[in-house]
Amino acid sequence: MSETVKLTYNNTTYEFPLIEGTENEKGIDIKTLRALTGLITYDPGYKNTGSCQSSITFLNGEEGVLRYRGYSIEDLSEKSSFIEVAFLLIFGSLPTPEEIEKFNREISQSSIVDEDVKTILKSFPKSAHPMGVLSSLTSALIAFNPSSVDVDSEEDMREAIIILMAKFPILVSWALRKVKGLPLNYSNPTLNYVENIAQMMFKQPHQDYVPSKVVVDALNKLLILHADHEQNCSTSTVRIVGSSHAGLFASVSAGISALWGPLHGGANQAVIEMLEAIQKDGGDTKKYMAKAKDKEDPFRLMGFGHRVYKNFDPRARIIKKAADEVLQELGINDPILEIAKGLEKEALNDPYFVERKLYPNVDFYSGIIYRALGIPTEMFTVMFALGRLPGWIAQWLEMRKNNEPIGRPRQIYTGENHRAL
Ligand code: ACO
Repeated sequence: MSETVKLTYNNTTYEFPLIEGTENEKGIDIKTLRALTGLITYDPGYKNTGSCQSSITFLNGEEGVLRYRGYSIEDLSEKSSFIEVAFLLIFGSLPTPEEIEKFNREISQSSIVDEDVKTILKSFPKSAHPMGVLSSLTSALIAFNPSSVDVDSEEDMREAIIILMAKFPILVSWALRKVKGLPLNYSNPTLNYVENIAQMMFKQPHQDYVPSKVVVDALNKLLILHADHEQNCSTSTVRIVGSSHAGLFASVSAGISALWGPLHGGANQAVIEMLEAIQKDGGDTKKYMAKAKDKEDPFRLMGFGHRVYKNFDPRARIIKKAADEVLQELGINDPILEIAKGLEKEALNDPYFVERKLYPNVDFYSGIIYRALGIPTEMFTVMFALGRLPGWIAQWLEMRKNNEPIGRPRQIYTGENHRAL
């Protein structure tokens, strides 16, 4: 007989089935809890709550393991291209040469954005944060591609995926060009997916653009490392918005907003701002370590700690090495990298951080690479969104294919009882 968990309440014992994943993770299936007992669970921040069963990404935070569809992040970031990883996440297996050729061709054919979208972009002030711009423009895609909202049509959904994979990098590059005050670039079909991103972001109007191998390799790695991370805040947002049968673009637009916050993807911007502030303040890392530990001080060591990793974030290890390599290959000596390494060393030996299992996360070193590539700080979270797009798409598609019910948590009401007016 399969295992169960017993709950005794009001002298009655109830049994709930245990479900087990392919990596032996176990969970209590409480679907019938309220109907049987009248009780609900209370779990702020969903620290113990599984919202779905998923076959996309496996993460073991205690051991620092991250795999997409069974492949380790170390292997994928070393041996695959971002577009292959996107295909893997979305469709479940690595593409054959024919499949990737078709995928690239379809993306290339859709790599154009309606000229009127430029008018929307133009109406934003130059000071607008590019994450807000990206979220708005992604939402605007709905108006320009209305068929993509039919969530019951498999064909429409594939088309929506292609459209988003094709147009999103253009919007990202336009957000950057707006920040920099540069003319907008379009896709070049002779380049591969990541080369094309580099071209759209960096090509100057008065110069030919030859993609640099260092830049393209670094971007490829960073995008792969950010491509999915199971049920994090933005991905859960994408799934929950999509669970109301909202379309893919609307769901992803909401995910971008969720990613923006400094406790999530916005941390990569916050890390560089913190490192710059420490440098400006004389580089005294000990002072900032003390602030991070002081419970009266709201300051936190940005880029440290993670809801699920209680060990090294495996992505941080890879990015730290890549940061060293990129800076060396580009001949850049960035004092901020030394401050970051100093902070990491102190934190890893400090009882406060050791006891709380606070390790560097993916955002701690990624900004140093973006900076070296000439990407402005306020664009860092946009780069994260660019990498996360295939993960959001894959999670949204899985949610739709599993026909998951609308996401709708309950609450424990603590307000006034009925009172007369
Ligand atoms: N600096 C100092 N103390 C910290 C930090 C930090 N970066 N992170 C956690 N702590 C402390 C908390 O104060 C708390 O201490 P206490 O037990 O004495 O009260 C303890 O460690 C546990 O922290 P929580 O906030 O309860 O952990 P939670 O899982 O809710 O938060 C989070 C995780 C949000 C990532 C947190 O570690 C944090 O704020 N880090 C800094 C921001 C950051 O880098 N975010 C990016 C995350 S990765 C990503 O989203 C891509």
